[in-house]
Amino acid sequence: MPDVDEIKEAKHFCADIPQKTEGFFLKGSDSLDWGMKNRLARIFNPGTGRTVMLAIDHGYFQGPTTGLERIDLSVLPLVPYADTLMLTRGILRTIIPPSTPKSIVLRVSGGTSILKELSNEEIAVDMEECIRLNVCAMAVQVFIGGEHERESIINMTSTVNHGTRYGIPTLAVTAVGKDMVRDARYFRLATRICAELGAHYIKTYYVEKGFETVCASCPVPIVMAGGKKIAELDALTMAYRAVEEGAAGVDMGRNIFQSEAPIAMIQAVRAVVHRNESPAKAYDLYQTLKKQG
Ligand code: R5P
Repeated sequence: MPDVDEIKEAKHFCADIPQKTEGFFLKGSDSLDWGMKNRLARIFNPGTGRTVMLAIDHGYFQGPTTGLERIDLSVLPLVPYADTLMLTRGILRTIIPPSTPKSIVLRVSGGTSILKELSNEEIAVDMEECIRLNVCAMAVQVFIGGEHERESIINMTSTVNHGTRYGIPTLAVTAVGKDMVRDARYFRLATRICAELGAHYIKTYYVEKGFETVCASCPVPIVMAGGKKIAELDALTMAYRAVEEGAAGVDMGRNIFQSEAPIAMIQAVRAVVHRNESPAKAYDLYQTLKKQG
């Protein structure tokens, strides 16, 4: 309780200095509530407006993925270089120290394995659990054009509805069936539907032709999914093009943790995303750091 006996008269009103009203740095996010913005600002670096998300949630449908057999050994050393970890509650509770300063994006959809139809998901984590785990966003897979398109969209919209009550953003993850065409037209459709239905940001794949139209027609930030492992220089080039063409960063998994030198690779990805480093220079950095071990 402050001492109330000798209250000094307040004087420093600075009436000649208008209070600043700053816009929020993220595309399409200025009308969100404080808690939502604060969580998004823990995922996206307010200095660059971009993020390096490290995706390690693959086990939720495919078990011990190459590079993620022992997350404690292979992924914990990468954590300092990520802005955000995207993972399941199982790995969060068992492997990630609660003392981590990193923001958490929790995979909340699930229910099928690689042995079955992947689009047949439900919401696998409830809202209380997300609050208990102090997550900064919830990630839901959306299968536009997939067998269970409708159910996956409802998974996303119900997550948006519940998250909005508590100030927790929703990341829509666009999932593409094996036999579907991955082009800008498809991703414009998928990302725009997710944004129109309330997703706060969207993860989607890079396409060589027209990725800028995917970003331009989506009113919320897009983060680029890494996809299957490719050569390091190619992955850095893809990340470079994605951010040049409008993505607000990457949500990369295999191209980091399956790299020959994952710690070097994540630092090279950071250089591209946060410093606009060219692919050639980022690759030089990768090789230098790789040699240093
Ligand atoms: C897949 O469903 C998961 O959401 C992964 O997080 C996603 O595929 C990103 O990882 P990668 O860069 O390995 O494609």
